[in-house]
Amino acid sequence: MRKLIIFDTTLRDGEQAPGFSMTVDEKITMAKQLEKLGVDVIEAGFAAASKGDFEAVNGVASEVKDSIVCSLARALESDIEKAGEALAPAERKRIHTFIATSEIHMKYKLKMSPDEVLERAVKAVKFARNFTDDVEFSAEDAVRSDREFLFRVFEAVIDAGAKTINVPDTVGYSVPEEFGNLIKDILNNVPNIDKAVISVHCHNDLGLAVANSLSAVKNGAGQVHATINGIGERAGNAALEEVVMAIKVRKDYFNDVYTEINTKEIYKTSRLLCRLTGSFVQPNKAIVGDNAFAHEAGIHQHGLLAKRETYEIMRAEDVGVPSSKIVLGKHSGRHAFKTRLEELGYKNLTEEEIDRLFARFKELADKKKEVFDEDIEALLFDELFKSYEEAKLIQYQVVTGDKAIPTATVKVSVDGEEKVATACGDGPIDSALRALEKALGVKSRLKDYTIRSLSHGKDAMGEVRVIVSFEGNEVSGKGISTDIIGASLKAYLDAYNRYSAKSLFMEKKIQEGI
Ligand code: KIV
Ligand code: ZN
Repeated sequence: MRKLIIFDTTLRDGEQAPGFSMTVDEKITMAKQLEKLGVDVIEAGFAAASKGDFEAVNGVASEVKDSIVCSLARALESDIEKAGEALAPAERKRIHTFIATSEIHMKYKLKMSPDEVLERAVKAVKFARNFTDDVEFSAEDAVRSDREFLFRVFEAVIDAGAKTINVPDTVGYSVPEEFGNLIKDILNNVPNIDKAVISVHCHNDLGLAVANSLSAVKNGAGQVHATINGIGERAGNAALEEVVMAIKVRKDYFNDVYTEINTKEIYKTSRLLCRLTGSFVQPNKAIVGDNAFAHEAGIHQHGLLAKRETYEIMRAEDVGVPSSKIVLGKHSGRHAFKTRLEELGYKNLTEEEIDRLFARFKELADKKKEVFDEDIEALLFDELFKSYEEAKLIQYQVVTGDKAIPTATVKVSVDGEEKVATACGDGPIDSALRALEKALGVKSRLKDYTIRSLSHGKDAMGEVRVIVSFEGNEVSGKGISTDIIGASLKAYLDAYNRYSAKSLFMEKKIQEGI
């Protein structure tokens, strides 16, 4: 049997996509869940890209013990040094260095000849070996690279000490048969290939990232790069949950391959990413979408009742989809609340955190008859992952109706000082956000607004996600409440606070002369 190495790049390729940015704490939380999921390698970021990325790689390297922690680095000594420094605390570390090998990238982007690229690649791998024995080399845009040159580069970097050679379909151009053949050709034409693992990194521009990755595995690839929910540059990367479940469900086809992923953690990991980034997966998304295990048609339901396998190839429990339970209500005590948190897998909360969460649970239970697991998780993430809070919502009031001019009054505290403003708008949310903007004294543009229900029933909590542009900087924010206006104001304030935290960081950097 061949173990397929799962290299997760949610925190690097995934996080670099617009709308998916995470703070350092959020990345560490996500990394710990990825470790629980059992991924073999966590690419925690691109240490040389920014101070935030460096801190994230460093933080993940300090916290994660079971998975290898990796940083991306261009084929430059300065990048590799930063990666080595950020990874220093890791028990097991990998440096992933890359340079483009396609003619179009070499000529127009790098302005380097093929020989110069080859030399740079070899130098980078040798330099990276000063920090760790575990070096991965990527030939960016491998799919569109000249085959003979690609084989030469791979042979040279393996000789220089690369233990993994990665074959990216950087622009998502390949199709499954062709991509599988490329892997076969690498196996047959790179003389020292037995000294390295062949890895693949597929983008989803034609919706083929998972299919291409699986074709590569069938043809001998030993590692797949993937992301949770398939997030990543443009149309994203291969979705980890789809690759893993395809291998598991179709073990008759992938008969000599297995992964060590704990599939029961898949759903939780997917939901955690949604919560941390404020993004949603489409309902029909394979494996983790809300409808992935829902059977609507009568004929299907009949078949399922007669024999589950008539319409189901895997069980919801296999990927950890919880059956929704009404867990608690307003009479539930702190002990029951804490027990439920533990049952949901949140065992390491401090007593002070549980107190804060319990107070919020009580407030919610007063407004809502039934409190579901989804509500508890939403409270948890809202409470524990609040960004630096310069501004807080104190009170709001909105008058609206088909004959009334929607008018809102909002009171906030900004750095301890109370501010109140009133504004009219096109509707209750528009007027509330205008009043908030006025109270904060900022100019902004709402670029995106989404709302969805978090659990069931008319009294379900709503989650609002916004993308707001402050002085040309786009920042995302999210908020939850049983009242959609409250959720909207909280989401906007979250974006504002994230923006202020970022501005403070920039100011500090300027003062420090960095
Ligand atoms: O898509 C790509 O080519 C990459 C490399 C850095 C591996 O993300
Ligand atoms: Zn990529």
